[in-house]
Amino acid sequence: MSEIIVALDFSNEEEVIRFLKEFNQPIYTKVGMELFYAYGPKIIDTIQTMGHQIFLDLKLHDIPNTVGSAMKNLARLEVDMVNVHVAGGSRMMEAAIEGLESGARPGLKRPLCIGVTQLTSTSETMMQQELLIPKPLNEVVLDYAKLANQSHLDGVVCSVHEAKAIHEQCGQNFITVTPGIRLANDSVDDQVRIATPAYAKEQGSDYLVIGRSITQSQNPQATYHSIQEMLK
Ligand code: C5P
Repeated sequence: MSEIIVALDFSNEEEVIRFLKEFNQPIYTKVGMELFYAYGPKIIDTIQTMGHQIFLDLKLHDIPNTVGSAMKNLARLEVDMVNVHVAGGSRMMEAAIEGLESGARPGLKRPLCIGVTQLTSTSETMMQQELLIPKPLNEVVLDYAKLANQSHLDGVVCSVHEAKAIHEQCGQNFITVTPGIRLANDSVDDQVRIATPAYAKEQGSDYLVIGRSITQSQNPQATYHSIQEMLK
């Protein structure tokens, strides 16, 4: 089943609390660099105390030893999902999983770890001319997903348009987390390859990362519920 992850792209803690107070049920949230670098583990604790799940989107990318040690500390925060850049290589991804396993409290499941294939801000031209990867972008995303799978990650972040091919290649249990979701009447904003929740469900996306369509809506809780009903 597809689940919603609400991107908490707010610049301060008060806005986060005000927003979450509108929900009378636990939701899955995404905390990014902006909030985490401003408030650190305190913001995680605040959101967890309110009863919500957390995908901590910090996109780690460093030498295997450093990523392993950092992941050990993130596992101690008892978040539900974390991520790394697949470009860090197989040894780094394996070290991330080892770190998460060693940091998780005995008896508790370690956080899921997913890989970033190519950022949505990376165009095919930029990838080929600046990163010097001489292949079509969709091929690179699939190859990176395969490498993430072989390196024991739980899944990848990808666009809805790639979710089906990634599941076909890496198996149905390999998680696809898809941003770039827009409702039929929404503005596209800065996203490029967008999809509706219905299409994301049809393509087999496991988690739909939704920011502005919910956070900027007139009634975030009602919008969240209507998308949730549709995904059932
Ligand atoms: O507001 P919107 O729904 O576009 O927010 C999407 C969220 O997903 C943002 O937090 C953005 O940083 C994140 N994201 C993305 N594309 C990626 C990875 C993460 O849009 N490839």
